[in-house]
Amino acid sequence: MTNKIKEEIEILKKDKNAIILAHNYQSKEVQDIADFVGDSLELCIKASEIKDKDMIVFCGVDFMGETAVILNPDKKILIPDANAECPMAHMLTGEQVLAAKEKHPNAAVCLYVNSLADAKQYADTLCTSSNAVKVVESLEQDEILFGPDNNLGDYVRDKTSKKIMAITEIGYCYLHKKITTEDVEEKRKEYPNAEIICHPECDMVVQKACDKVMSTGGMVSYISNSQNNEFILGTEVDMKHRVEKEAPGKKIYPLREDSICEEMKLHTLEKIRDTLKNESPQITLDENVAKRSMKSVKYMIKVSK
Ligand code: 13P
Ligand code: SF4
Repeated sequence: MTNKIKEEIEILKKDKNAIILAHNYQSKEVQDIADFVGDSLELCIKASEIKDKDMIVFCGVDFMGETAVILNPDKKILIPDANAECPMAHMLTGEQVLAAKEKHPNAAVCLYVNSLADAKQYADTLCTSSNAVKVVESLEQDEILFGPDNNLGDYVRDKTSKKIMAITEIGYCYLHKKITTEDVEEKRKEYPNAEIICHPECDMVVQKACDKVMSTGGMVSYISNSQNNEFILGTEVDMKHRVEKEAPGKKIYPLREDSICEEMKLHTLEKIRDTLKNESPQITLDENVAKRSMKSVKYMIKVSK
């Protein structure tokens, strides 16, 4: 059955002149059928470079699809399950960004790419976990309004002399927030030879308890080039599949087996096939919101290249 669906997807992809992009947190099957798998920044850059396709099937969450719409106003951006909404991105509204700007008129606004276009349209720049420090350092202002992830905000504050100000009191990723220092200690005992790497969406105490902190893309390249053989990853469980594929032979253990992004997992092979067949669900944005958001997306891409 699975093979039949895979064949159908391949045929539909050709017929529709489509490309499938997938985030590192997608299930094994979805990662394997995708034309390109990456972290948030890699997906943004890839989406900005697609010239010869008519549609993009985005196997990620809503804010990623929206960013693809901003970068490709002339293409159809499809998402296999329209309910794939990142709860963190929904913790920040455009109104909250505007209110913070009014309170701090001299500050620059740097938003995590995990935010909706409603908020992005008022940002000076975006950042991802792989370029946040570089992007913040590139801004001429010393005061930076940051959101929605306050753990990534803490990570950047720790690494720069700029004044990082959280836009909202609450802003977090539920599965990274659940990881504790006790989890780190337990796993260290279980696998004493393994290096422990967590994502900057984890709490600062957890970041400090781990050996390294990096984005999902950073994990892939770091592990591929490392002399070590065992790694414990404090992030979504399906990073294991991505890293094992890119760095065969390395032993990968999730820091917590229940670190699952339920929203990313909504996409299935069946839904990808149906999305291609029906050219729906499609992600759309108000034209003006998309135009206003372009500035911050482009600034981030320029600084990251
Ligand atoms: P990166 O893939 O950029 O590390 O981000 C992780 C994430 O939580 C995406 O939603
Ligand atoms: Fe959002 Fe967290 Fe899922 Fe990333 S892992 S999409 S931040 S809920």
